[in-house]
Amino acid sequence: MSTVQIAPASALRGAVSVPGDKSASHRALMVSALAEGTSTIEGLSPGEDVAATSRIMVQLGAQRHDEHGLVTVLGPTGGLRASSESLECGNSGTTMRLVAGIVSGVAGRHHLVGDASLSRRPMDRVVTPLTLMGATLTGQGSRVTAPLVIEGSDHLRSIDYHVPVPSAQVKSAVLLAALRAVGHSVVHESVRTRTTTEDMLRHAGVTVHSIEVGEGRDVTITPGRPAPVRWRIPGDPSQAAFFAVLGCIHDDAVIEVSSLDHARERVGFARVLARMGGRVRLVDHGVDSELHAASSQLEGTEIFAGEVPSVDEVPILAVAASAARGVSAFRDMGELRVKESDRFAATMELARVLGCRVWSEGDDFFIEGVASARAFAPFSFDPGLDHRMVMSAAVAGTAGSGCEITGSTTVASSYPAFFDDLASLQ
Ligand code: S3P
Repeated sequence: MSTVQIAPASALRGAVSVPGDKSASHRALMVSALAEGTSTIEGLSPGEDVAATSRIMVQLGAQRHDEHGLVTVLGPTGGLRASSESLECGNSGTTMRLVAGIVSGVAGRHHLVGDASLSRRPMDRVVTPLTLMGATLTGQGSRVTAPLVIEGSDHLRSIDYHVPVPSAQVKSAVLLAALRAVGHSVVHESVRTRTTTEDMLRHAGVTVHSIEVGEGRDVTITPGRPAPVRWRIPGDPSQAAFFAVLGCIHDDAVIEVSSLDHARERVGFARVLARMGGRVRLVDHGVDSELHAASSQLEGTEIFAGEVPSVDEVPILAVAASAARGVSAFRDMGELRVKESDRFAATMELARVLGCRVWSEGDDFFIEGVASARAFAPFSFDPGLDHRMVMSAAVAGTAGSGCEITGSTTVASSYPAFFDDLASLQ
């Protein structure tokens, strides 16, 4: 298995362009494949997760061409159709859950498979609403894990659905199925998750209305076929979070990340870091933002899952908490257990090997920081083939005393050039 040695950096200077937003990249391919005609995509994520979505859209009847970094997708005139081959989702939960929504509305039988990690992740959260809409979905065991067999229907029923776990993927699966249902559908979420699907469908001419209700949101969608679009994908804020934390915890750093999506649900990590005393700033350029981060003395804080919906940035915020003075409390973090790995356990383990005192109570965990990244112990870490855990450990090793990470090539899921970009700052 691939192992990488990370040396501590004496100083960090420069600018990084993170890859195109992963969520927007999946949806650009999907919405373009659902449309009739030619869409173009600039800035598509080069990660393997997005490549899995792309291959599946082609299996379902879309055509893809690449020229000089511009991707062209041709959505078939008669709409998507079932493939006789398995739809291979690899490591990508977004691919499996959103494709489940799409193919529920495509007549025929669909086989969805994934790697060992994805085959452990719960699919009941999408199977329940899609079944209510009239598709037939079968999987393994009580959490209905992959492989999944889906019998799609071209006359799905509309739905009025309260999503039981805060999840952009579940909301999106229902909205994508609802495009092909008879009548309006409504999705209620009690925590506001990322709005990528709603925003992109609206951009493609679909009627989607959202209203904020307390801490949550109701989204109403009218069925229809999206129109082709010229997509421009901004940089991925969840990847920028690694450099934001690196800039704050390293003792001699000034780092910039260019052209980011700055949607409110995506940049909660920057608000948390600022609250910890981090010198982190988002400069708004209208369609996108630039992020600046510089060496800071961080203080412990209390972080609620709802501040960083989808909790993708929690492992790297835990590295920030490890370098802070005092105790940080991470609240309501149960969803971390069902990500690409058990990130609840892996995040605590990473803080522990850095030298922190770490403990948990139910779905909360706590880290007593060591006051400075330079006090991190040199460490070896096996992140269980989880891309975000690899990148979190690499940031800790770079700002601290170095490390050895097993399974480092897993960064290819979302950020193939991560180690090159990290090296470019040194
Ligand atoms: C994503 C949703 C998230 C997140 C993932 C991308 C998406 O999960 O973890 O990286 O593109 O919809 P949730 O479904 O838990 O929000």
